[in-house]
Amino acid sequence: MQIDTEKLKAFYADAPDDISLDNIALDRMPCHVSIIMDGNGRWAKARGLDRSEGHKAGVASLRETVTASVRLGLDVLSVYAFSTENWRRSQYEVNMLMHLFATTLVKELPLFHEHNVQLKFLGDIEKLPIETYKVFKRGLDETADHTGMIFALAVNYGGRAEITRACRRIVQEVHSGKLNPEDIDEDTISAELYTGGLPDPDLLIRTSGEMRLSNYLLWQLAYSEFYVTDTYWPDFNKWDFLRAIRAYQTRNRRFGGVENR
Ligand code: IPE
Ligand code: IPE
Ligand code: MG
Repeated sequence: MQIDTEKLKAFYADAPDDISLDNIALDRMPCHVSIIMDGNGRWAKARGLDRSEGHKAGVASLRETVTASVRLGLDVLSVYAFSTENWRRSQYEVNMLMHLFATTLVKELPLFHEHNVQLKFLGDIEKLPIETYKVFKRGLDETADHTGMIFALAVNYGGRAEITRACRRIVQEVHSGKLNPEDIDEDTISAELYTGGLPDPDLLIRTSGEMRLSNYLLWQLAYSEFYVTDTYWPDFNKWDFLRAIRAYQTRNRRFGGVENR
């Protein structure tokens, strides 16, 4: 993806001491960064606030991360916003989140237009409340022709549900005679996932210190580099994002082979 160097320099203008244009290699950027945005509730609790305030504060971190990703020329940014297990939360919190997704997307659509960002959803969004679903559908339609970065939002997403759905779809293809079981390979499965057509994440970031996947992109993360920071999502900013990318650039990705430096 094209990088606007003037805008990138401006982006670094107020960088903290440990960050500079020199210590991020623009020729070794990850193509796809994925983030498990976690810690909103604990961020709020630490301030004596309701969990919902943490979710609202997290929106600013997401906006900053989307803009940073565009500046850095990423091809894909994907984020985990609501899992198939998050329905277990209180009705109040679930409703609040669904409403926040809808209102935020309406508000942020101009940002996607400005940066030519194409929106995608990972997960079963048809099961969302109608208000949220309609806004998501509008976001999809309005950004379908955009040719810049892809921003994939995982909502009502679960890795196991996704693989189960892919199996069902493949079996249907076999039943209808369109697909021969002998021809099923890894690409067949990848194509039937919500991420079909997207490259696998190169880097997975999880905020708030948890060392688990929580049912996120189980298939796609097979060879991704992991970066976990203790920072809660609402405190995460573009410098933390750059620190994660810098850490990624020090890794030696072997994909099961031998060291190649
Ligand atoms: C992540 O923050 C946002 C969602 C899952 C929607 P949490 O709400 O999980 O925050 P913690 O983990 O309770 O701090
Ligand atoms: C994962 O975080 C889901 C999202 C960030 C949307 P959770 O907070 O739901 O995960 P657990 O329950 O700590 O594993
Ligand atoms: Mg959490």
